[in-house]
Amino acid sequence: MANFWFLILTIGFLVLSWFHNSVNSEIINGDHDDLFTLVAIGKELKLLDWDENGLKNTSNYCSWPHITCSSSQLVEKIVLSRLNLQGNLTLLSQLKSLKWLDLSFNTFHGTIPQSFGNLSDLEFLDLSYNKFDGSIPIELGKLKNLESLNLSNNLLIGSIPIELDGLVKLHDLQVYSNQLNGSIPNWVGNLTNLRVFTAYENELSGKIPESLGAFSELQLLNLHSNYLEGSIPDRLFANGKLEFLVLTQNKLSGVLPDSVGICKDLSSIRIGNNEFIGNVPKEIGNLSSLAYFEADNNNLSGEIVQEFAQCSNLTLLNLASNGFNGIIPPVFGEMINLQELIVSGNNLSGEIPTSVLSNKNLNKIDLSNNRFNGSIPKSVCNSSRLQYLLLGQNSLIGEIPNEIGNCVKLLELQLGGNHLTGVIPPEIGKIKNLQIALNLSFNHLHGQLPPDLGKLDKLVSLDLSNNQLTGDIPLALRGMLSLIDVNFANNHLTGPIPTFAPFQKSPNSSFEKNAGLCGYPLNSFCGNSNGPESFHHKVSYRIVLAVIGSGLLVFMSVTIVVVLFMMREKQEKVAKTAGKEDEEIDDNNKPSMILGNVFVDNLKQAIDFDVVVKATLKDSNKISSGTFSTIYKAEMPSGLTLSVKRLKSIDKTILHQQSKVIRELERLNNLCHDNLIRPIGFAIYDDVALLLHQFLPNGSLARFLHESSKEQEYKPDWPVRLSIAIGVAEGLAFLHHLAIIHLDISSGNIFLDSNFRPLVGEVEISKLLDPSRGTASISAVAGSFGYIPPEYAYTMQVTAPGNVYSFGVILLEILTTRVPVDEEFGEGVDLVKWVQGAPTRGETPEQILDAKLSTVSFSWRKEMLLALKVALICTDTTPAKRPKMKKVVEMLQEITESK
Ligand SMILES: *[C@@H]1O[C@H](CO)[C@@H](O)[C@H](O)[C@H]1NC(C)=O
Ligand SMILES: *[C@@H]1O[C@H](CO)[C@@H](O)[C@H](O)[C@H]1NC(C)=O
Ligand SMILES: *[C@@H]1O[C@H](CO)[C@@H](O)[C@H](O)[C@H]1NC(C)=O
Ligand SMILES: *[C@@H]1O[C@H](CO)[C@@H](O)[C@H](O)[C@H]1NC(C)=O
Ligand SMILES: *[C@@H]1O[C@H](CO)[C@@H](O)[C@H](O)[C@H]1NC(C)=O
Ligand SMILES: *[C@@H]1O[C@H](CO)[C@@H](O)[C@H](O)[C@H]1NC(C)=O
Ligand SMILES: *[C@@H]1O[C@H](CO)[C@@H](O)[C@H](O)[C@H]1NC(C)=O
Ligand SMILES: *[C@@H]1O[C@H](CO)[C@@H](O)[C@H](O)[C@H]1NC(C)=O
Repeated sequence: MANFWFLILTIGFLVLSWFHNSVNSEIINGDHDDLFTLVAIGKELKLLDWDENGLKNTSNYCSWPHITCSSSQLVEKIVLSRLNLQGNLTLLSQLKSLKWLDLSFNTFHGTIPQSFGNLSDLEFLDLSYNKFDGSIPIELGKLKNLESLNLSNNLLIGSIPIELDGLVKLHDLQVYSNQLNGSIPNWVGNLTNLRVFTAYENELSGKIPESLGAFSELQLLNLHSNYLEGSIPDRLFANGKLEFLVLTQNKLSGVLPDSVGICKDLSSIRIGNNEFIGNVPKEIGNLSSLAYFEADNNNLSGEIVQEFAQCSNLTLLNLASNGFNGIIPPVFGEMINLQELIVSGNNLSGEIPTSVLSNKNLNKIDLSNNRFNGSIPKSVCNSSRLQYLLLGQNSLIGEIPNEIGNCVKLLELQLGGNHLTGVIPPEIGKIKNLQIALNLSFNHLHGQLPPDLGKLDKLVSLDLSNNQLTGDIPLALRGMLSLIDVNFANNHLTGPIPTFAPFQKSPNSSFEKNAGLCGYPLNSFCGNSNGPESFHHKVSYRIVLAVIGSGLLVFMSVTIVVVLFMMREKQEKVAKTAGKEDEEIDDNNKPSMILGNVFVDNLKQAIDFDVVVKATLKDSNKISSGTFSTIYKAEMPSGLTLSVKRLKSIDKTILHQQSKVIRELERLNNLCHDNLIRPIGFAIYDDVALLLHQFLPNGSLARFLHESSKEQEYKPDWPVRLSIAIGVAEGLAFLHHLAIIHLDISSGNIFLDSNFRPLVGEVEISKLLDPSRGTASISAVAGSFGYIPPEYAYTMQVTAPGNVYSFGVILLEILTTRVPVDEEFGEGVDLVKWVQGAPTRGETPEQILDAKLSTVSFSWRKEMLLALKVALICTDTTPAKRPKMKKVVEMLQEITESK
């Protein structure tokens, strides 16, 4: 029935439009025009709402969804946001009375229709978050009534047209995140109603228009990440209404004008990474609303103005990497809301400002790389919240006060490169939260190492090098279970280096220049008793070191990576087997099978558990090694090939709850998804658990991306890579749908079948080791290096957004053919940071993508750029900004559909 009416109406529409075009259009009533236009639009956009509902009462289109009519039954407002629409929008221009058009968050592509210029009543136009490309049509300049124009987050190129100078009523103009170039046209400065202007993340150059803000009541100006130059126009502040000013990451120069003080409501000034000179004007103190002042990496100079202290709402003050001198004004203690004071990399001197330190809200104080002198005040941690105390590379003297132990919230303590004397106070051991680093290097500290340091079981990096420390390295330091990076070099330490994995894994440079120190990793042996063991360690730890790689050490300095449980396990092994490698279980030392089962009935006959166990004892069968497991290949006598996963660190509690484990595994076996690996059985003996899976001959995605070129294998082309990315995303979306968080997403845990279908592995780990469900005592399950989301450092929780981040890293690997952690990226830079840093380095996205793929065809390149956008939002530093896995699947599918 509906179809019938639709047919009649469509024919009617065709007839009428013929009439319309050939006969004088005045004959036909305006609202009928709207009806037929709407039906045609509904059809073009495949908008079912406008077929079925609408046609029940044809004359009643004003009640259709997404539509609002005027009192005279003319369509005035259309809101079609977030409906995943695409199609030809030209017809919309026939809705002559349209005032409000919102098409945001869809997948419209192609150029913005010129015909929109005919919507002369239009007041609000939102085309943001689509895939419009080409340049902004000059016809939009005809929209004399337009008050709000939003073209953000598209693929627009070219300049902002001069011809739009007719948009005199504009109060909101947003064009951020496109590829617009040229300069900001002067007409923007003439808009008397302008309130909001954003054009950040484009390729705009030239100067900020002289009159911008001068004639209007501009509240928000955000132009960050462009190539703008010249100075901030003095008149920008003239109207006194500015609330947000963001100019970060441009080439702007000159001074911050005094007139800034006029803007009483200014709450955020961010002008970092430019070439500004001079000082911050005293008038800054007039800004009682100022919460955020960020001006790092400029050429600012002079004394830091004490007027900042009048900004009682100031929360963050970042003046790092400028040329400031003089002292930190003591009145800064009056800024009771200050949470972060960052002034590193200047020429500041004087004492550490105790008034600031006593501020209860202070979270971070970074005075490093200055010339501060005087001693560390005893009142250092009267402020209970301090998490970062960064005082390195100054001229501090005196002793480290015992009161440092009051800094219980500290995550990082940097005191290196000063003239500190005295001993290391044992109270440092009270700072149980210390995680990122404890650096006391390059001072004049003497005396023995306090055993209390061993209580710092979360600490990742310990640097005590270049002091005059004496005595043994206390055995108690083996309590520092999270340690990865350690340096004791150039002291007067003596005795054997304790047997402790993090020590023996370190390069010998970590212990060198201590005349009395012996044992591995140094080349000096301590005596006969220790000799052979040391030698054994030498071999095995070299291997471990080679596997983990030094890139890890670099990466670690930015992200806190706690491999606590791995260490703990290693230690237990060291204690138990007295240095015996865990892989080297003797053949006659026959393991006693406790239990085994095969879930898949027709495979029961084909699997021989003895052969399975034996296969895992031979190194030559090893396929890969992940955070939680080692995978072996096992050939059954029946001819079946299995992949056998030996869990590395299965928690004791799990072994004691075998029935529960088995239930979980059986449940997992029933978890059916094309992109997940299902367990087909398991075996448990001693404290070892083996999981059996189908053997996938194409190996892991990691091997495929990063190793296949050496082996002259078939290298996946772009469409195959994209389908792999979609498959992985679908597998993860399915898990998230069941509220299962994967604990170790990495390209090494994605396997490819003979058709390059990706299968996500290690899913059972999430079930067996899920820390939030209390099945394991492990609080530090972090996943694989390079894939760990930045927030993990603070939350210590693997979350769904964390999984999205890890997926984003895999997508970047697929796009760039680069590994997540690589020394090539530079110190402290991983793949994500390297990609994010491309605009700063002046590199285009194309230089980031694997050129072997992106240069093959224009359409491949375009798709790769779209996928890059997805990868970038997945790896957003802010977890809340990352899309859900389900949304990621949709976004990637849209790329394939956009052909
Ligand atoms: C159709 O809509 C018009 C206008 O809203 C209304 O007057 C009329 O009663 C409706 N007819 C039916 C059959 O619902
Ligand atoms: C959209 O449709 C109009 C006619 O309604 C046509 O002139 C135009 O070429 C179409 N645009 C595209 C991109 O197909
Ligand atoms: C705009 O309207 C004018 C006159 O009504 C018409 O001649 C022109 O073709 C229209 N332009 C577009 C792009 O639809
Ligand atoms: C686009 O900009 C307008 C005007 O500033 C704003 O009202 C609208 O919410 C924006 N759209 C999106 C999707 O952010
Ligand atoms: C802006 O970009 C367009 C297309 O990408 C290019 O043709 C033009 O030369 C660029 N203009 C400037 C001023 O860089
Ligand atoms: C801006 O306005 C001034 C005078 O108010 C005028 O001289 C100038 O031409 C205008 N500029 C633009 C680009 O509209
Ligand atoms: C603005 O700051 C200056 C310098 O600190 C001061 O002299 C002036 O009185 C302030 N003006 C207002 C309106 O607060
Ligand atoms: C300071 O911040 C608080 C909370 O954000 C706000 O309520 C208050 O109005 C601000 N004070 C000024 C002077 O803006």
